[in-house]
Amino acid sequence: MNYHIVTYGCQMNVHESEKIAAILQEKGYTTPVDTDEDADIIVFNTCCIRENAENHAFGNIGNLKKLKRRKKGLIVAVGGCMAQEAGKAQLLREKFPFIDIIFGTHNVGELSSLIDALRERRKKQVSILDARKETEDGITPVRTSYPNAWVNITYGCNNFCTYCIVPYVRGRERSRSAEVILKEVEGLVKEGYKEITLLGQNVNSYNSDGQGGMSFPELLDRCAQIEGKFRLRFMTSHPKDFTRELALVMRKHEKICNLLHLPVQAGSDRILSLMNRRYTREKYLGELKMLRELIPGCAVTTDLIVGFPTETEEEFEETLSLVKEANFASAFTFVYSPRTGTKAAEMEGRIPEDVSKDRIMRLVEAVNENTREMSKEYVGKVTEILCEDYDEKKGLYLGRSEEGRMGYFTSEKNLIGEFVNLKIDRANGISLYGTIV
Ligand code: 5AD
Ligand code: SF4
Repeated sequence: MNYHIVTYGCQMNVHESEKIAAILQEKGYTTPVDTDEDADIIVFNTCCIRENAENHAFGNIGNLKKLKRRKKGLIVAVGGCMAQEAGKAQLLREKFPFIDIIFGTHNVGELSSLIDALRERRKKQVSILDARKETEDGITPVRTSYPNAWVNITYGCNNFCTYCIVPYVRGRERSRSAEVILKEVEGLVKEGYKEITLLGQNVNSYNSDGQGGMSFPELLDRCAQIEGKFRLRFMTSHPKDFTRELALVMRKHEKICNLLHLPVQAGSDRILSLMNRRYTREKYLGELKMLRELIPGCAVTTDLIVGFPTETEEEFEETLSLVKEANFASAFTFVYSPRTGTKAAEMEGRIPEDVSKDRIMRLVEAVNENTREMSKEYVGKVTEILCEDYDEKKGLYLGRSEEGRMGYFTSEKNLIGEFVNLKIDRANGISLYGTIV
């Protein structure tokens, strides 16, 4: 029997889908497929961080109506952040009565018993738990991204940035025990994974609940001491908790990539305060200075939001100027999207859509210009790439440098999972093209 998992949103969700795949395989759905028509079960792993992610999922679920009627026995399940959102499960049930199972973010592990119950009793199943206390789900994910592997270190978030729905749908921050994490990383390295990314909404506050057993810098230090040739990454870091201690651990180990993803969101102190980010532009820039003094050439990437309620043109320009000043290697850029239940959604001073559109275009251009300029610095130099994939269209292998740059190259041999030294011949936007040396 075949399964199709449709994933929306962040890395966290991609990894959660690997756990969903494990549950489905255990239930007898042995083969992953990438079309709805070929599937015996379709699982939507949704995201609700911005409205367009939700609309996208709603559209795709709606499209299943006919197939569901035609194909007897097809199971449709909807899980993830959107299913967990207040009132959304009800709305999903009303809009799409053909959905068989709805499960939230706190009970991925229950999908198995929900499928059993559905098979036995043939009735619709909804299971949305309020909060999850335990941090171990006992699921061994079916990893789909060799040579890369993700490892959760925390779940949930305590920060309540005023625009963000994550704390409402993923609950309070819970840390997995360091012992369990270290064992998992060690196991992955033994299995041959070459790049391990530690995942959490705010990795720097790891162990805030005392359940981890050590601080994040200590955990990272211990992970980096595991023997073998592999890379370590982590995300996401919150600037309010970024420390010199962490930067020192990054400097200490070759294995830890010289890349920090440090979402700043905005360049204006007034907007940062309205967002409840708890740092200023000056503090943020001070952290980058400290980091780059300790690790020259360390790449920094970020997340930026435009059109937050009441954002003025001048304040937006502060975000623009920050892109240059901070010298971001790249950035994810977003138009503010009001999320029901968050503080910002109640704020006055919504920015008209055309103004936000204009701002995001100017911001994307500023980010791209910076990225292009930085790409030029790679040309003529040799950089180590971890080969991740083969691009059929381009006929080239590809992989990333430790700073997260994509490098393309030709090879007779399949090099996926190998480190290669690439002499960069040319750069195109964020992509580099080179020859193996
Ligand atoms: N609107 C726009 N962007 C958002 N993000 C989170 N919530 C919103 C929202 N309501 C962005 C932030 C965060 C990233 C994961 O998504 O930039 O860092
Ligand atoms: Fe959302 Fe802020 Fe938590 Fe990130 S730190 S998940 S933006 S509330």
